[in-house]
Amino acid sequence: LLATEYAGQQAVGVVGQIVPWNFPLLMLAWKLAPALACGNTVVFKPAESTSLTALLFAELAQRVGLPAGVLNIVTGDGAVGQAIVGHAGVDKLAFTGSTEVGRAIREATAGSGKRLSLELGGKSPYIVFADADLDGAVEGLVDGIFFNQGQVCCAGSRLLVQESVQAELLAKLRTRMAKIRVGDPLDKNTDMGAIVDATQLARISGLVNGARRQGLTVWQPEARLPAAGCFYPPTLISDADPSAEVAQTEIFGPVLVAMSFRTPAEAVALANNTVYGLASSVWSESISLALEVAPQIQAGVVWVNSVNRFDASCGFGGYRQSGFGREGGREGLREYLKPLATAQRRGAGQASAAPQGASAGAEQPAGSANNRAAINRTAKLYIGGAQQRPDGGYTRAVVLGGREVGQVPEGNRKDIRNAVEAARKATGWAASSAHGRAQVLFYLAENLAARAQDFADLLALDCPPEQATAEVEASIERLFHHAAWADKYDGAVHQAPLHGIVTALNEPIGVIGQICPDEAPLLAMVAMLAPAVAMGNRVVLLPSRRHPLLATEFYQLLDTSDLPGGVVNIVTGALSALVPTLAAHHDVDAIWRHDGDAAGCAEVEKLSAGNLKRCWVTREPGGRDWFDAAQGAGREFLEQATQVKNIWIPYGV
Ligand code: NAI
Repeated sequence: LLATEYAGQQAVGVVGQIVPWNFPLLMLAWKLAPALACGNTVVFKPAESTSLTALLFAELAQRVGLPAGVLNIVTGDGAVGQAIVGHAGVDKLAFTGSTEVGRAIREATAGSGKRLSLELGGKSPYIVFADADLDGAVEGLVDGIFFNQGQVCCAGSRLLVQESVQAELLAKLRTRMAKIRVGDPLDKNTDMGAIVDATQLARISGLVNGARRQGLTVWQPEARLPAAGCFYPPTLISDADPSAEVAQTEIFGPVLVAMSFRTPAEAVALANNTVYGLASSVWSESISLALEVAPQIQAGVVWVNSVNRFDASCGFGGYRQSGFGREGGREGLREYLKPLATAQRRGAGQASAAPQGASAGAEQPAGSANNRAAINRTAKLYIGGAQQRPDGGYTRAVVLGGREVGQVPEGNRKDIRNAVEAARKATGWAASSAHGRAQVLFYLAENLAARAQDFADLLALDCPPEQATAEVEASIERLFHHAAWADKYDGAVHQAPLHGIVTALNEPIGVIGQICPDEAPLLAMVAMLAPAVAMGNRVVLLPSRRHPLLATEFYQLLDTSDLPGGVVNIVTGALSALVPTLAAHHDVDAIWRHDGDAAGCAEVEKLSAGNLKRCWVTREPGGRDWFDAAQGAGREFLEQATQVKNIWIPYGV
């Protein structure tokens, strides 16, 4: 179905894939199947402790006649992984493993142009409300935290239980834990086998001993463990403070940390009190309550009254520092495809993006006839829905066509921090109805249309008047386009093998930092801002440096278009002062840089590693034709502005 369902897409090329040891065959299947199905070739590295499965699989690949070179398996440790990551012939990397190594890979690939998907660690909440089926919840916990000895990225390792049933649930849980048989993994009566190796065992017991020393209640059943081997008993830690090390660190062992809450709001706050966001589980007999809570949890998967459900038709992957990209589902295939346009972009972009830079600007005063736009004015920053003076108190001159046409504020890192804070606070935008967001964007488009001549005059300071008019028209059109999409970019209902439904929601990512190009300065800004805002994100935007007056003029439209304060924040100034703070800021969730500055894009990708922001960059000057319907709009923009959450809702018994 690729040719029809993913028209205009092609294989990425050579894919490097690196996986951990906890599910050697499943990890391999999840990685290889979509990569090969999309026509890529693969260099695959299994974990050093579980290499044999992959080599056995290679024999199968030979037997079915996979052409030589399509699948390549290289065994070895982290150094071999690093060699794959650093190889210039690799076009995309797909990694599953620890957040620490994922972050190192993000840094190592910064500026390389390699695509990246990361499936990292988690500290997934398991929320039990008072009205839940407590016996079912206990069985779910046994699967959620003790399956595979807890060495599961999406293990339900934090139990959040409503206070009124806490004692009852923990009593039931202890009774059940006492029945878990730990022993020889090849004995079919065994529930829990051995920990993968001595290092991991030492790490688990080190963390649990630390909790004991801090005075937390550590409970383990009295069952005997085999004398030899890396065994660890099922463990329950209670009375943990949400900030305790065992409540925040991924233990990757059979250790459950229990906390209590009183209200649904408190449950959500505790659930989101983590840097991770891989999975979660919500137990309640009230569908209304469960579905009220599910969208509020920052995690890629929510299992209602269930746990550890997977299917190839449903995407799986993280929010926040649990990584980005998905495995499974349509969105999983996207990781292994790239738009045909990317390959053709360079030529097309240069042909019609016609940067207004040197050629139009310096020599002929293109806008000399436009007196209205030529009025010298001093703009302000736009933060939290209000015009703000820059922290440093300085402005910079905007020189177009050889003369000064205005002043814009010289923002600094404090201004960026203020803008991010304002964006962070504007949470209501994500929760507002998609229809409401569409209305605001339609209104914005109408307001731009009403002032089209003013913007055309401003643009014409730097390009021929016909081009200026065309750009304003395209910008109005682009706003209408994304206004139309705001309430139509639907999720999906998956038909997974389950008595129930799986709903895939396209959720906003959060706060997006945007660095706009100089070419087509109004259109590019609108093309970046509109899809982000349409999908419910908040934006901190650094407009074209060459033509920032467009942005400072534009915020007057924002003011009159019912856009709540803080949804769009505009900071002007030198990129060298603004970008490092924006790209490294932990409250920024994604960063788009489309100014064609290769070194600048590399810098952004590197700095994004701190909190694993999603990065989207255009590294070649003129590398994106903003007038083009595919390159300047379309699904890619909507996909970049959203992340998919799968909510599993079984029904019946
Ligand atoms: P790891 O992240 O170090 O190893 C995963 C894979 O990456 C292995 O194939 C390894 O050889 C490779 N690797 C290691 N360093 C690399 C580098 N610099 N560049 C490229 N590839 C590299 O995980 P490890 O050491 O096995 O486990 C440590 C901790 O990580 C665990 O205790 C657990 O907390 C977490 N973890 C999480 C997983 C998950 O699925 N979320 C899976 C495995 C580990």
